[in-house]
Amino acid sequence: MKALILAGGAGTRLRPITHTSAKQLVPVANKPILFYGIEAMVAAGITDIGIIVGDTRAEVMAALGDGQRFGAAFTFIPQDAPLGLAHCVLIAADFLGDDDFVMYLGDNLLEQDLGAFVHSFETARAGADPPTAQILLKQVPDPQRFGIAELDKSGNVVRLVEKPDNPPSDLALVGVYLFDCTINEAVRAIAPSPRGELEITDAIQWLVDQGKRVRCELLTGWWIDTGKLTPLLEANRLLLEKIETRIDGKVDDTSTIDGRVVIEAGAIVTNSTLRGPLVIGAGARISDSFVGPFSAVGDGCEVVNSEVEHSVIMERSKVIDIQRLEDSLIGREAVVSRSHLRPRALRLMVGDHCQIDVE
Ligand code: G1P
Repeated sequence: MKALILAGGAGTRLRPITHTSAKQLVPVANKPILFYGIEAMVAAGITDIGIIVGDTRAEVMAALGDGQRFGAAFTFIPQDAPLGLAHCVLIAADFLGDDDFVMYLGDNLLEQDLGAFVHSFETARAGADPPTAQILLKQVPDPQRFGIAELDKSGNVVRLVEKPDNPPSDLALVGVYLFDCTINEAVRAIAPSPRGELEITDAIQWLVDQGKRVRCELLTGWWIDTGKLTPLLEANRLLLEKIETRIDGKVDDTSTIDGRVVIEAGAIVTNSTLRGPLVIGAGARISDSFVGPFSAVGDGCEVVNSEVEHSVIMERSKVIDIQRLEDSLIGREAVVSRSHLRPRALRLMVGDHCQIDVE
């Protein structure tokens, strides 16, 4: 079994952050989103991993390396334009050969462990009526935003539609798919959708139309497509819910720590209150501040004389003299500061290297 991870998308809904960095490398709980998917693959025993990269390929490749640090081997496959998920399968043909594979959208985060999902496909493949594909479904309140599956009374997949105006169900296709080599034929057979992309949803529909069996499973845990600010902050919150306290940095005795916190090596906390769950990155400096629940402060950041809660602050950024910063995403090496004292809460999405002075 191989894996194909898609890390080529432009991330238009996370601008301005994605003007300068890849959306799959935005951190949640201080780890790039993409790393969670890769670690889940390796934990499921899949180490031969193809990674589709787009305009941000230099950054993605530099962050990932050759795979050794994850215990995997990476093959990078460049996609020159975002022509769809099925197009990714098409251009990965040489890498995939005739092997079965998991396709994983690099901006999706799942609570459920991948191993069980992979194992059930392998078991079904060894059975009497082997499926050619397996999809993972989750009920959603907004089915117009996703690929949607319609099942018959026995739970068989009968129809799949991409972002329908009149959804036949509320069962969304989660961004994890299992395929055998028949999908290679399917992606060559379909035509681009109205949005000009080769849709994986249409390729799976082609399998159904050819009388091939498509297995489905319902996802039990949470699933987040992190492409926008609100779901990204939600993913950060859900992952921080799971952390265990670990304090490798220095906390002085005028500071207070409540709840579960991770403070990485080299971080220094002085005269501050930290109320977890939260993470403070390596070498960060927190002084005369309050850092509240569901905050992820990146490596080398400075939070000085400020209150921060429910926010992601990326590496080497500074938050200085801010009465209250909440529900925010601050890019790398940004500065948010204020020259006059005026009490109010800020909710910001700040790009890399920006400087915001609040008057
Ligand atoms: C893609 C797929 C869609 C799927 C979704 C999951 O949508 O086309 O079928 O439900 O991922 O995240 P996109 O993110 O390209 O809008």
